[in-house]
Amino acid sequence: MAHFRLPTILVALLLGGCAAGDGTLDEVDPAAAPANPTWSDPVQRVVDVYCAGCHSDDSAVGAQEGYAFDTCDQVKRARGAFQQATFENESMPPPAGFVMPEAAKLTMKRWFAQGMPCD
Ligand code: HEC
Repeated sequence: MAHFRLPTILVALLLGGCAAGDGTLDEVDPAAAPANPTWSDPVQRVVDVYCAGCHSDDSAVGAQEGYAFDTCDQVKRARGAFQQATFENESMPPPAGFVMPEAAKLTMKRWFAQGMPCD
């Protein structure tokens, strides 16, 4: 029976790997992000931390590309590009391979889905 041991361990490792999650958004504890995020709490802070350092009217990227994210209205206007860069391509924020923490992404997704309230 000893020769069954190794495969059993491998299966356990594989299952354990699945149970631990692969870090996709669907597996985030929904409680990790606010249910009804607004611009002032906490969306602006998320955007400030992860985007506005480069995407601001004060920075070359924000001014030149039309992707300044200083205000709620600016983010609303760019929502399509914002979502594509952040959720689909995961090209933003740089560097390539860096992605926002899932709770921050979930916060943004909920805010977009709920009509991007600016209060
Ligand atoms: C370290 C600087 C930096 C940060 C932080 C950053 N960006 Fe960018 N972003 C750039 C640069 C530079 C470009 C233009 C060149 C390019 O596309 O790589 C750009 C381009 C974009 C564009 C234009 C379309 C595209 O994909 O090129 C969007 C939309 C965008 N960024 C969204 C975001 C969002 C949303 C965040 C925060 C989650 C963010 N960026 C964080 C530097 C940054």
